[in-house]
Amino acid sequence: MRQKIVAGNWKMNKNLDEAKELIEVIKKEVKTGLEEGTRVIIAPSFVNLQSAVKNTEESVVEVAAQNMHQSKSGAFTGEVSADMLTNLGVNIVILGHSERREYFGETDELLAQKVDAALANGLEVIFCFGELLEDRKSSNHFAVVENQIKKALFHLKEEVFKNIVLAYEPVWAIGTGETASPEQAQEMHAFVRELFAKEYGKEIADTISILYGGSVKPANAKEIFSKLDVDGGLIGGAALKAEDFAAIIKSI
Ligand code: G3H
Repeated sequence: MRQKIVAGNWKMNKNLDEAKELIEVIKKEVKTGLEEGTRVIIAPSFVNLQSAVKNTEESVVEVAAQNMHQSKSGAFTGEVSADMLTNLGVNIVILGHSERREYFGETDELLAQKVDAALANGLEVIFCFGELLEDRKSSNHFAVVENQIKKALFHLKEEVFKNIVLAYEPVWAIGTGETASPEQAQEMHAFVRELFAKEYGKEIADTISILYGGSVKPANAKEIFSKLDVDGGLIGGAALKAEDFAAIIKSI
């Protein structure tokens, strides 16, 4: 059985006070009605991680980082290592988000190193991938996604995939209000599952969770989540409002 997950990526939003307030409301909202086996994850900015870990103790809400550096330690001004995260009690990291790829030049090769470093330190990875609008328009979306996944993940041994969650985020649907149709999401998720089946076998393909991200909101969550190969969502804008995030969680 695959894990169902709703993860909120807060990006560069919420100061410490706002983060605390949002966590309090989310905790109340998820206290009841959460289906067994469903995970709720929030990813605040680095500076608010410590407080988020403390404020989610004894709740079902888990805390993830939005990024990390691939090196153990060293002269990398402004960066954060895997060890710094785990030492804070953060056990999950988002890697490969399209904003990291686009604005910070993260390549598939670099992401392979980050994935290795995260797994070596016992972190669970939420690995994001997805095509640009021009890729979809030119019908290259499957090839682009296949390439991203192969380069960043297919050097890994099969036993590590229990610590990897995939997140398909078509770049044209992120923060644009334009969502991939449930059929488009399903089509890509099934394609990715098939890639894993070919490379690692059916068991891994059938057990790895694949989240969809890109303008998920309370109004469209249920339909997207109802698709066979969609195991939850990576939510941006709608994760910043507790009521919306809670409604999305209840849609799973
Ligand atoms: O990480 C989350 C995604 O980038 C989706 O963001 O829900 O604001 O479109 P969005």
